[in-house]
Amino acid sequence: MAFPLITRQLALSLQKNVWLGASGCRYVSKTATKTQVEFDYNGPSMKTSVPGPRSQELTKQLGDIQNVGAVNFFCNYEESRGNYLVDVDGNRMLDLYTQISSIPIGYNHPALLKLMTNPNNLSTFVNRPALGILPPENFPDKLTESLLSVAPSGMTRVQTMACGSCSNENAFKSMFIWYKNKERGHSTPSDEDLRTSVINQAPGCPDLSILSFMGSFHGRTMGCLATTHSKAIHKLDVPTFDWPIAPFPRLQYPLEEFSRENAQEESRCLEEVEDLIVKWRQKGKPVAGIVVEPIQAEGGDNHASPDFFRSLRNICRKHGCAFHVDEVQTGGGTTGKFWAHEHWGVDDPADIVSFSKKLLTGGYFQKDELQPDKAYRIFNTWMGDPAKNLFLAEVLNVIRRENLLEEVTRSGKALLNGLYELQAQYSGILSRARGQGTFCAIDICDDETRNRILLKTRDKGVILGGCGDRSIRFRPALIFKEYHAHIFLNIFNDVLAQLK
Ligand SMILES: Cc1ncc(COP(=O)(O)O)c(C=O)c1O
Repeated sequence: MAFPLITRQLALSLQKNVWLGASGCRYVSKTATKTQVEFDYNGPSMKTSVPGPRSQELTKQLGDIQNVGAVNFFCNYEESRGNYLVDVDGNRMLDLYTQISSIPIGYNHPALLKLMTNPNNLSTFVNRPALGILPPENFPDKLTESLLSVAPSGMTRVQTMACGSCSNENAFKSMFIWYKNKERGHSTPSDEDLRTSVINQAPGCPDLSILSFMGSFHGRTMGCLATTHSKAIHKLDVPTFDWPIAPFPRLQYPLEEFSRENAQEESRCLEEVEDLIVKWRQKGKPVAGIVVEPIQAEGGDNHASPDFFRSLRNICRKHGCAFHVDEVQTGGGTTGKFWAHEHWGVDDPADIVSFSKKLLTGGYFQKDELQPDKAYRIFNTWMGDPAKNLFLAEVLNVIRRENLLEEVTRSGKALLNGLYELQAQYSGILSRARGQGTFCAIDICDDETRNRILLKTRDKGVILGGCGDRSIRFRPALIFKEYHAHIFLNIFNDVLAQLK
């Protein structure tokens, strides 16, 4: 089934497309250099409003099987290419949301399709192993070639997992195990530890905690959910842990213009972090680790300064807690550096860095001392997927070969400058434009208008995502160029003009 698509896509990738620009667009900023993404389309093309009739029919059909409340529309992934997602009604949309920020180099990238045609890779796609017990011969080499080649500073160990939530879930467990070993002075549990652990009692199941921040999102599984504080709907009716929640800085943008006010806000939050660590120790629930996103994403694209994160790191050292940086959404190049924490300019950024999304496989890097020394303490059936490591190695080749991080910095500037201009023009609707690389966002005057803008923009051929109470977030693929930013800005301008 996959082969006709591969052949067709490879043929398409060899065609030289000429970029024509989205017809009928008004430019709000000067045209960017038109370097072409070879396998991309030349602009959005809309046949129906979205969801169109075929999408509606399929939603009804799926509704008889599952809850479809979150389904936007149905996709034609065979026809989707580069920065463009095609739906089942033949609408072709510029995708600035990319499957919740998880498509690194666009749809049907020829380099990835080519991997599928290599007979040497077939057994990796066909035989998914239980990696923890029966890894394939090439597994250490493939890890070295893919994940270890982008390991954060000071980390030489990586554990793969299936998704973002299970990466964080297991990273939390590693922090607890590390903390208890540190407390015991060795890694051998007592008989009482072993006996009580099976019946959910202390000391085997100790009352330890993880400190997280208001507005954060670390996943929806039980442990992660205890550290997720972005929306009630994620948490409602689910029992949770009594773990401390610190305020995350609420900064004013542009950051450069409010450095004094923002520094004050950050020290307020840092003081609160230290207070909570002391309080929870006194309560008998010591903080084993702090988890934080370099930019709070689902919670509304909330930024903090490198100073804030450096101070958090030092607070962890001072109080003997592990520092876990959740790069599930920020990792993979979208901020203009491979890891968002690289913007902090430190050699020892964290004890654990978790990832997923643009890295295609989930997992986490960790310091040597965080790795449990006994088998099965961190374990599940698949523990990742070697096929995803193959794709990731190729994604990294493309990123390097095509200097995509520089591209992200360039197109991110065009995007953010365009947002600043539109914000000045439509000051009653837009505010707080912000971003790093293409990881940008803007606030809309209210939730209802935000949702209306998202739908109208989609009907004009651009897919965007919401986050927080009333923000729009931009999460294009790394092959998003300046001219794509201009296509978007023109369409956004038209939508805003009609709202005014
Ligand atoms: C920062 C962060 N952590 C964790 C997760 C959870 O990842 P997943 O949805 O793959 O479980 C997400 C998902 O959006 C995320 O943005």
